[in-house]
Amino acid sequence: MNKIFNPTQLKYISSFRKENDDLLKEMEKFAQENNVPILFWQSAEFIEQIVRMINPKRVLELGTAIAYTTIRIARELKGKSQVHTIEKSTDNIATAKRFIQKSRAGMKIKLLEGDALNIMPQLKKKYDFIFLDSDKEDYKRLFDFSMVLLKRGGVIIVDNLLWQGFAASGRVPQKFKESTKHIRAFNKIFMSQPNLKATILPIGDGLGFGIKK
Ligand SMILES: C[S@@+](CC[C@H](N)C(=O)[O-])C[C@H]1O[C@@H](n2cnc3c(N)ncnc32)[C@H](O)[C@@H]1O
Repeated sequence: MNKIFNPTQLKYISSFRKENDDLLKEMEKFAQENNVPILFWQSAEFIEQIVRMINPKRVLELGTAIAYTTIRIARELKGKSQVHTIEKSTDNIATAKRFIQKSRAGMKIKLLEGDALNIMPQLKKKYDFIFLDSDKEDYKRLFDFSMVLLKRGGVIIVDNLLWQGFAASGRVPQKFKESTKHIRAFNKIFMSQPNLKATILPIGDGLGFGIKK
């Protein structure tokens, strides 16, 4: 995070952060204690705003984890709108189910269990909004499926495109070399799609934001 942002600016922005309700606080605590990566708060707030703005009927999330962003999206959905979310880790599926049950927006969520690489080719109906947040080595293939499943005029958001600052850095620790390679290769593809109006926003860990032409 602090490799992307000037710490003074980040502290200033954070001073305006609103306190979350008990369920989100419980989920954040669980994620921290159990080392489960969930979306940065600035990114989650931005996604809530986008959902409110575009009023999607059908949302697809790739990589549920504990359903933190899933629940935040579901709460913003109007009427009969739904969020479908795909997760392959059995541990995360069990935790996500527990939190979804606790949420008042639980009925707007459909959890699809398994690898998105296998599930996505079976999905037929298109989506208005797709949020890609899976393993980084799967990004390219899941993005290709997403472009098929995204409606024209639909929005796609992809997390971690600045990858803790390493995407733009000349010095990448060994541990991050492989994942950084995937992110850099993905960014080139994402930013040069002829049928996508795309940008990378310095929000959270870097959000790819695209509108299908
Ligand atoms: C960064 S976490 C997701 C965080 C979540 N979207 C949120 O905003 O809180 C990534 C999750 O994606 C899952 N995942 C990774 N690759 C996947 C795939 N190909 N299919 C389904 N789930 C996948 C992992 O098991 C992990 O739970």
